[in-house]
Amino acid sequence: MAVDQPGWWQCGLVYQIYPRSFQDTNDDGVGDLPGITQRLGYLHWLGVDAIWISPIFPSPMADFGYDVADYCDIDPLFGTLEDFDRLTSAAHARDIKVIVDYVPNHTSDQHPWFIDARSTRQSEHRDWYLWSDANPPNNWISVFGGSAWQWDTATNQAYYHAYLREQPDLNWRNPAVQQAMLDVLRFWFDRGVDGVRIDALRQLVKDRDLRDNPPNPAWQPGQDPYASLTPLYTTDQPEVLEHVAQFREVSDGYPERVLIGELWLPIERLVAYYGVDGRGLHLPFNFHLILAQWQARQIARLVEQYEVALPAGGWPNWVLGNHDRPRIASRVGVAQARVAAMLLLTLRGTPTLYQGDELGLENVPIPDALIQDPVERNVPGLGLGRDPERTPMQWDATNNGGFCSTEAQPWLPLAADHALRNVATQREDPRSMLTLYRRLIALRRAMPALSVGSYRTLHADEHVFAFTRESGGQRVHVALNLSDQPRMTRLPGGELLLSTHLDRERGSTAETIELRADEGVIVG
Ligand code: GLC
Repeated sequence: MAVDQPGWWQCGLVYQIYPRSFQDTNDDGVGDLPGITQRLGYLHWLGVDAIWISPIFPSPMADFGYDVADYCDIDPLFGTLEDFDRLTSAAHARDIKVIVDYVPNHTSDQHPWFIDARSTRQSEHRDWYLWSDANPPNNWISVFGGSAWQWDTATNQAYYHAYLREQPDLNWRNPAVQQAMLDVLRFWFDRGVDGVRIDALRQLVKDRDLRDNPPNPAWQPGQDPYASLTPLYTTDQPEVLEHVAQFREVSDGYPERVLIGELWLPIERLVAYYGVDGRGLHLPFNFHLILAQWQARQIARLVEQYEVALPAGGWPNWVLGNHDRPRIASRVGVAQARVAAMLLLTLRGTPTLYQGDELGLENVPIPDALIQDPVERNVPGLGLGRDPERTPMQWDATNNGGFCSTEAQPWLPLAADHALRNVATQREDPRSMLTLYRRLIALRRAMPALSVGSYRTLHADEHVFAFTRESGGQRVHVALNLSDQPRMTRLPGGELLLSTHLDRERGSTAETIELRADEGVIVG
């Protein structure tokens, strides 16, 4: 179905900023808020409608900001609340919305709540976290390796942490926790942010009886140890939706705010988070393009499965990459990453673009001595470490790619090819990945069929996936060759609007067209 009165978060493009790696302005080798403000001109030029900024709050940085020690301030590494306000008003002046990360599942072990909680069993905040007399009470494991229970010698109980032991989980069954965390949401909405991306949402509530998670029969040694168990009792518990309804009640108290949830769930469970009667999320993040095999028929099947599963009024969304997963250009190859870009920008639903993917950045190999991510330290050698996709933005051909001054030392190394692959070079190149992204974004903005139109599969075989988008009589066809060989395909004729190769333009097409190797086309 086409949409009549879409919200900004429906027709817009969300751009994810990993702030440590976007732009450094004070030469400490770590990006900061003034850096983001400084680059708003670029984001406006590219055509993004909203930025989601990964955590910028005071943090000991055990998990690079996802361990929050104060939800209502800015870490000095990134700047100050005044810097944040300046960024927000400068973004708004350019019609760019601002989305912040909201991390309700766990705090830092340095948060005053946890410092108090672990001081004695009688402390005011003891019951804000999850404690057990047994060590450990069950087989639950941490996403980041090892048992999810940490023994506290001072008070002789274990506490639960879904992630690092420096990230104790909050007890969401405690109404005081709920109220405090809803106040955090109000704090940021009052400050003028346009939305939040809710971190680790599926983990929010755990089984009251602490039942063992069952083994996952599909798991094999050498794979992510976290996947050795099915997280039946630690994720996606029915009460999570009750808390989503609380978040929604708060956000509905403000105009046009958006709630996006991080949810690694199968499609049938993911769509439950749209909620019933408008009590759910606006956008439960759909990561299935990250998980899917890159094959035309598989992708077509995924799109159809998702379209069918969406509840009435549920708005779709698609994500190709983020700060937790290998880069799309490394997953499918640099040539197919252009096809993936066309897919992301032509599917029905809000696209989220991860910083650097618009340049075709690949995973950067990190020498052992420079490893930062605790995941690589805890679970080494399995390729789970996230540093390779978190390397600094490549702005120009100077030594440190314009990310920081040439004297500074970036916190992670830049890609070896940064002197060639960077914003300045690609802006001037009419066939670059950056030019492709910019043109796709512009076309999507110009054509309601692409932004809010209906979706229909036209064709899917082993190599080619084609579909039609339509709105108010405007029809656009997209044909994507997911292989590295030329393929013939049939499309209703029309005018060629864009090819991923950016070398053929605006001619009328016959009903049968040849897609070159790794080529996608839009015909309208
Ligand atoms: C989410 C974040 C990830 C973080 C984890 C713990 O998955 O995206 O970066 O490490 O939650 O907060």
